[in-house]
Amino acid sequence: MALRMNASTFVGLSLLSLTWKAAWAKVEVNMEDRVEVFLGDTAQITCMFTVSDSHDDVIIQWYMITKTNVRSRIYYGDRNVQVVDRDGQFTDKISVNGMGKSSEVVLTIRDVALEDELEFICQVNGLSAGNMEGRTMLKVFASPDRPNIEGVHSGISVSKNNPSKIGSCEAKNGYPRPNITWYRDQSPLQNTPGEVSVVTLVTKESSGLYTVQSDLHLNVVKEDEDSFFYCEVSYLVPGGTKMTETNKINITIHYPTTSLDVWVESPKGRVKEGDTVEVHCRANGNPQPPFTFMHNMQELESELNVLVLKDVMRLSSGDITCTSLDLDTHEETVGHTELFVDYLDQAVLIPKDTHVMAQGEELMATCNALSSLPTHTEWFKKGEHFAEGHTLTLKDAVFDMAGTYVCVVKVPSLEGLETSGSLHVHVQGPPEIKESADTVLEEVTDKFLNLSCHARGYPTPVITWSSSDESQILKEVSHRQTEDGVLSVVSVKVTSDVTANCNASNVHGTDSFLFSIKAIVQTTSSAPSTTVTTVTPVTPPKRVKKEGSGVIIAVIIICILLLAILGSVLYFLYKKGKIPCGRSGKQDLTKPSKDSTMVEINNTEEAVLLGVNGDKKPPSDQGDKYMDVQK
Ligand SMILES: *[C@@H]1O[C@H](CO)[C@@H](O)[C@H](O)[C@H]1NC(C)=O
Ligand SMILES: *[C@@H]1O[C@H](CO)[C@@H](O)[C@H](O)[C@H]1NC(C)=O
Ligand SMILES: *[C@@H]1O[C@H](CO)[C@@H](O)[C@H](O)[C@H]1NC(C)=O
Ligand SMILES: *[C@@H]1O[C@H](CO)[C@@H](O)[C@H](O)[C@H]1NC(C)=O
Repeated sequence: MALRMNASTFVGLSLLSLTWKAAWAKVEVNMEDRVEVFLGDTAQITCMFTVSDSHDDVIIQWYMITKTNVRSRIYYGDRNVQVVDRDGQFTDKISVNGMGKSSEVVLTIRDVALEDELEFICQVNGLSAGNMEGRTMLKVFASPDRPNIEGVHSGISVSKNNPSKIGSCEAKNGYPRPNITWYRDQSPLQNTPGEVSVVTLVTKESSGLYTVQSDLHLNVVKEDEDSFFYCEVSYLVPGGTKMTETNKINITIHYPTTSLDVWVESPKGRVKEGDTVEVHCRANGNPQPPFTFMHNMQELESELNVLVLKDVMRLSSGDITCTSLDLDTHEETVGHTELFVDYLDQAVLIPKDTHVMAQGEELMATCNALSSLPTHTEWFKKGEHFAEGHTLTLKDAVFDMAGTYVCVVKVPSLEGLETSGSLHVHVQGPPEIKESADTVLEEVTDKFLNLSCHARGYPTPVITWSSSDESQILKEVSHRQTEDGVLSVVSVKVTSDVTANCNASNVHGTDSFLFSIKAIVQTTSSAPSTTVTTVTPVTPPKRVKKEGSGVIIAVIIICILLLAILGSVLYFLYKKGKIPCGRSGKQDLTKPSKDSTMVEINNTEEAVLLGVNGDKKPPSDQGDKYMDVQK
């Protein structure tokens, strides 16, 4: 409107123009309301138009509306000229195509920046057909970085009056500003006065992007120790909304103790005297408060929640209490447990230690041990089970009953409780020398022989040894008390045939036993074979059974008779001329056997039997007793 006209003319022209326009308006422009694009991407804003009737060239101009609401042209184009306005925000990063006859032009903006989020106007000037314009808003988006969550590490107390901080979430560099929503387990948390408070801090970075930080404050309850918390970040993207979630965190809740658990942790089961007892205490609060232990009204040192009682006694039985003081509420909580210590006293035997009884007498002994539990008593003699029950009855006492009786008292229900006692029973009576198999003893002269004599009886017999050889003093090599008497061993030097007498006596009487020892003299002159003499010294002394010698004599007599019969038969045959008498046969009979031991034995037997060796006597002392001989 370069011309200045008066008002009425202007109004008239305007009306004319409007009606003309309405009748002849041939330019139409069509644009999208908004174009959405990620930061840094390329945006394309399309301007569609139709110019009816006139096929004249059109003029296209693009404008932007600055942040300060100023309309500023950024592009001009007609058939001849297409120019981007200089020194503008978009001078270097826009291009327009689709000029000419086309009915569409596209404004392309490369490398979209945040400040490019503006309104763009496309003006189409059809000259005679008039002009028209359309507008498009350019929207820019930036997705925030992956959000972070940081929980509060210290414990959070349920006894706080105001919500306590739980954690903090952060979403960085988003555009437009992202939203943060907190969740407890599956449910979103909303600001609730006194209960939930979410404090959000939004920072606009120098880049123009937003960083959102959100702190959650909550009035926690005990159950929250099992809850998990996380944030959900929602942000806009071209064409919609996106969400991402943070990791889940859990928190430590502090809540007061209202009760204590006290128990004997070890030993499991019953406790006996001497055990080391471990008592544990646990509070139902968090954290575990400091504990104090009292045992039978006495305060004891303890380590954290464990009380150790060493070497408990029956007097240790009783109450054990555990007390805690809550540091927040200053309230005291007490828990307790009962300790019972089982015991088994020393076994008490009646009669105790030693009991002397006459032969034929009866004894009833008892063995008892006091215990807090049922006991079982067993008696042993020489390590073997003898009787059961706490009484031991010995009827009609004989020497065999003398000895040591051990009673063992056990508590079947509690392993390790055991006591024992022993009782020595002596059976009074005159000495009785215990006999073994009857033996006759022979030994090579100048060798030593051990003779042993076991005499039963009580009072313990006194053993005296005597020898028929007055010159020899019998030396006792061992003397020991046995269950029922005494065992004495003497060493005898065999010089010649000799007898040794073991005499056992006590106030009730005497018993004696006679040993007969035959000395085997090593013959060097009269022996028919040298083999015999060399072998004899290594030959052990012979033990000849008393009954056995008679049998041997009988056998030898039978042999002689058989030889006599054989001799007469041979003589008869010889007379008849049936057998030739060869030299070889005679040699066989006289040749000594290679088995020298056999020869020696035969020789000895022969000597004993025939009495050829003057130093030897036949075993004829039938009335003597013979005993085991120790060599
Ligand atoms: C963010 O929260 C506001 C207010 O509740 C809401 O209007 C907006 O749409 C939200 N934005 C996103 C990206 O969810
Ligand atoms: C969180 O939960 C895990 C697994 O359930 C557990 O190991 C951890 O101790 C908890 N942390 C806290 C602070 O409660
Ligand atoms: C055994 O000793 C007792 C007492 O010393 C004595 O009276 C007795 O005569 C002795 N007996 C023999 C066989 O020596
Ligand atoms: C006799 O007994 C003693 C002691 O028991 C022993 O040292 C010795 O060797 C024995 N002597 C003989 C000849 O058996």
